[in-house]
Amino acid sequence: MNRICVLGLGYIGLPTAALAASSGLKVIGVDIDPEVVRSLGNGRAHIAEPDLDVLLDRVLKNESLIVQTTPCQADIFLVAVPTPITEEKTADLSYVESAIRSVVPVVQKGNLVIVESTIPPGTTEGVVSKILTESGLVIGEDLYVAHCPERVLPGRILEELVNNDRVIGGINRESALAARQFYEEFVRGALFLTNARTAEMVKLVENAYRDVNIAFANELSLMCSHLGVNVWDVIDFANRHPRVNILRPGPGVGGHCIAVDPWFLVEKAPQSTSLIATARSINDLMPEHVVAKVASAVPPGARVACLGASYKADVGDTRESPAIQVIEDLIAKGYVVNVVDPYVSKMNGKSLPLTTLDEALDTAECVVLLVDHSEFKLLDAAKLKEKFANGKLIDTRGIWTRTDGACPFQGIAPKPAKRGLVGVRCSNTQIVDPQVMQNIFGPTDTYLLSTCLESTTR
Ligand SMILES: NC(=O)c1ccc[n+]([C@@H]2O[C@H](COP(=O)([O-])OP(=O)(O)OC[C@H]3O[C@@H](n4cnc5c(N)ncnc54)[C@H](O)[C@@H]3O)[C@@H](O)[C@H]2O)c1
Repeated sequence: MNRICVLGLGYIGLPTAALAASSGLKVIGVDIDPEVVRSLGNGRAHIAEPDLDVLLDRVLKNESLIVQTTPCQADIFLVAVPTPITEEKTADLSYVESAIRSVVPVVQKGNLVIVESTIPPGTTEGVVSKILTESGLVIGEDLYVAHCPERVLPGRILEELVNNDRVIGGINRESALAARQFYEEFVRGALFLTNARTAEMVKLVENAYRDVNIAFANELSLMCSHLGVNVWDVIDFANRHPRVNILRPGPGVGGHCIAVDPWFLVEKAPQSTSLIATARSINDLMPEHVVAKVASAVPPGARVACLGASYKADVGDTRESPAIQVIEDLIAKGYVVNVVDPYVSKMNGKSLPLTTLDEALDTAECVVLLVDHSEFKLLDAAKLKEKFANGKLIDTRGIWTRTDGACPFQGIAPKPAKRGLVGVRCSNTQIVDPQVMQNIFGPTDTYLLSTCLESTTR
């Protein structure tokens, strides 16, 4: 096993191809987009991901990775093409189908086909294997087929590709084992083997789990807004419960995965996915609530600064971004929108009314924070609150309006936990009273107390 053909050189396929090439495999990267191939041919990645440029530079120069627009013979074919949703909220498998069709003429006996694209349960057997029978090979005997979903976080893709645990679903035992042999070449995380349908479910369930939990946080923020309570305080305090961990609300859910994948479950099991479908709807409606807040603060025609356009902090990916939806809705309603995003230059091919942070804040009548990029966290919250009072500062990510547990009654600070003071063990045999410790270290020197606790309880 030494030649790998990776189909789809996007956020998933390109780092995977580069990593496989750097671990000693011969990799042929294939993308139907000639721009992608041309840019890589010139040694430049078309996606931004930490450390990817350095890795690519090496593997492209030593030709362990070559790129082209059509697949060729190889030992393993790895498919990482898009799986968007249709207007009807069903999986659009046309990219997967066409990628698999493109390898039919070149697959040979003993090859392995791995699908990494996120797909609905039953697709590896019902769609992928079915198309591959057109090669004349016996699936599972002459040609091995597996699904291994990807669960990396943009911004940390290379690191997570190596260190995350992987679930490998084979259409039979031999396929699962063959796929494991491939991932062993560069994955340090644990490799779990199962059947293809389970692996397909695992990926979708992970994203549905996140989506449902975000929907709960978003519903909480709607409730709190209605009831006049600071949602960030409610969440901070509730999360002090040892078994509660509420996520943070926001302007909606974006990205290629969480906003899309739960629909694949709804599509396949509509009768038993009411919670998942409801969560999707709650998250999908969040941009409308943000626009309604702007409308209650300033009338159409007002100048609104929208801070952030990407789907999450510190990345330039705008796919399914709720921020873009807010921006588009505000423009459609007649607001004069200025967008600030240090990571984004265009949205889905269209241009954005981008401006600098200073200019946007100087001229705005209302400010909407849509993405918690690091740059925005550095702004002076007190000044912003003063300048944009009376609901004109809409902070959907809670970076300026959360109080971090501060008491609303003046002059009262939270009392810290007594953990680390009571019953400090000073040696193997002695448990010393905190008063004794304080006599030794002084009344306020808690740093020494906690250091002592740490070193004596190891
Ligand atoms: N981006 C993520 O963070 C992420 C995480 C986990 C899973 N996934 C899943 O991985 C899959 C790929 O996602 P992505 O983000 O890398 O997509 P992407 O859009 O960044 O890249 C896909 C690439 O595939 C190419 N392509 C389309 N049809 C092709 C074909 N027939 N042959 C060769 N190339 C073809 C496109 O030109 C594009 O460059 C999707 O199913 C996605 O849901 C993505």
